[in-house]
Amino acid sequence: RATVIVAIDGPSGTGKSSTSKAVAAQLGLSYLDTGAQYRAITWWMVSNGIDIEDPSAIAAVAGKPEIVSGTDPSGPTITVDGTDVAGPIRTQEVTSKVSAVSAVPEVRARITELQRSIASGAENGIVVEGRDIGTTVLPDADLKIFLTASPEARAARRSGELKGSDVQATREALLKRDAADSSRKTSPLAKADDAVEVDTSDLTLQQVIECVVTLVEEKR
Ligand code: C5P
Repeated sequence: RATVIVAIDGPSGTGKSSTSKAVAAQLGLSYLDTGAQYRAITWWMVSNGIDIEDPSAIAAVAGKPEIVSGTDPSGPTITVDGTDVAGPIRTQEVTSKVSAVSAVPEVRARITELQRSIASGAENGIVVEGRDIGTTVLPDADLKIFLTASPEARAARRSGELKGSDVQATREALLKRDAADSSRKTSPLAKADDAVEVDTSDLTLQQVIECVVTLVEEKR
């Protein structure tokens, strides 16, 4: 079959984004960062003064923002109502609020529909990264990968990305977000039964990329 759909899930700091982008670029596939979409809708909620503590307030406006994702792995883009939000969605404020917004079922239904339509429109196939791609969004994906890493390795990678940040504080914020994502009712962070688990703690990024590329090639 010509097109291939790859689902890459796992908690934060396991190398999902770097791996997914590189695999897609290497194999000529599209790339979708679903975390960026949840961040984008969270950014819109914050910008519009929606009370993040109130799931019914979030649900009531979940259909309002128009989120558009560009799926070129060499330069993925994200806009909300035409505004480029690639920078603003990475702030600490959005990061600390995204788990609450993405736990709201109406938000998930909306974003899941968008993700399925992007995946079905990707002519050469696509690498989709997130938390519930293999379990919920694309249960028929050709290949499902679940990336893991020790909390130490994940915190060290994240603090390396956020220059000058404190490893201990980063570790706590990251574990808190994963606990929230794993315990929510609607499509929590979970490994699909048929996913291949890859522990990246002692692997370089290059090794993880090679491992996933090999697995995709076996499916093509
Ligand atoms: O991957 P990233 O760290 O950017 O994801 C941000 C947040 O978006 C996650 O912590 C989670 O709350 C939410 N998310 C989700 N489902 C996905 C992808 C991300 O709930 N498929």
